[in-house]
Amino acid sequence: MIAKRAQILSVGTAVPPSIITNADLEKKLDTSDEWITTRTGIKQRHIFPAGSAASVAELGGTAARQALKRADVPASEVDGIICATFTPDCFFPSAACKIQADLGCTSAFAFDISAACAGFVYGLSVGNALIVSGQAKNILLIGAEITSRTLDWNDRGTCILFGDGAGAVLLTPSDNDRTGVLSTFLHSDGRHGDILSLKACGDDRSIRMNGREVYKHAVRMMSEAALTALKQAGVSIDELDYIVPHQANLRIIEAIAQHLKVPPEKMVANVQRYGNTSSASIPLALSEIWQEGKIKPGTTVAFTALGGGLAAGSAIVRF
Ligand code: ACO
Repeated sequence: MIAKRAQILSVGTAVPPSIITNADLEKKLDTSDEWITTRTGIKQRHIFPAGSAASVAELGGTAARQALKRADVPASEVDGIICATFTPDCFFPSAACKIQADLGCTSAFAFDISAACAGFVYGLSVGNALIVSGQAKNILLIGAEITSRTLDWNDRGTCILFGDGAGAVLLTPSDNDRTGVLSTFLHSDGRHGDILSLKACGDDRSIRMNGREVYKHAVRMMSEAALTALKQAGVSIDELDYIVPHQANLRIIEAIAQHLKVPPEKMVANVQRYGNTSSASIPLALSEIWQEGKIKPGTTVAFTALGGGLAAGSAIVRF
């Protein structure tokens, strides 16, 4: 039987153990804990040591292994692996193919998705569509980033924002009509590509950003995407238990709450401890509320994200 929608069965995460605090940054940059905290809410981020041979595929693979273990699904039963990342170890083989080999998912197809910080939501939309069309049953969706190797550590306006990490979910067909991915909405606006970019060639290979412009579009596009996805799902904003937004910074998250008139306790935020981990940020935040016992049968969550591109998207999921 072909499923009406996919559901999220489990979540897994991985972050490097080493932490950089704002106090550490104060020693290297003309910045302060007070400036970073007031403008972003970020207090620390997990970062691989400079020059480490860390691999995005290994980090993503660790998160994926945990998601499989929690779902009690063997690697041999995975049909597809989608990895969202803007920091792959190679252009090819993809991170997803490397993860497939490392985990022994021998029956799976595997590919990467490039939608920057919106990658997890784009991957969820694609994974859901593959399950609904009957092309796959069990899909590992991973967001994995080593952002630290794309940062200019002298650019104080940008390097203070980001962190390394990975999150993964296992998608399976929903066995009833009411739970799973109720809607996904994707929207991009390439006209603003130059406000946030990372070049693949040339001399400058660091993230460059116009922070003020990004802030403006992030609040607007993440809010609008969530409203559209809610409308498509036939779910009112009051029915949402949580909004798990991309963790760019606390001010953006608070502004979205104001825009959507959602009480702050419904907004999930852990950016304070991880910084912006791009495609990993939503599964990292989801994992926290799941571990805290806040995800129960019937819990309804909106994911919403914006990343370089600009690429925005939202998904409404009922557990
Ligand atoms: N410490 C101290 N001072 C700093 C720092 C720093 N780390 N960084 C910049 N400044 C200075 C600037 O040089 C500037 O000084 P000046 O007035 O003497 O020229 C001053 O602070 C103000 O700079 P702005 O860039 O205008 O500061 P703003 O209030 O816009 O805050 C910030 C910057 C936090 C980046 C904000 O624009 C923002 O949050 N933007 C969103 C960016 C973002 O989240 N990007 C992530 C990727 S996209 C995504 O994930 C959605």
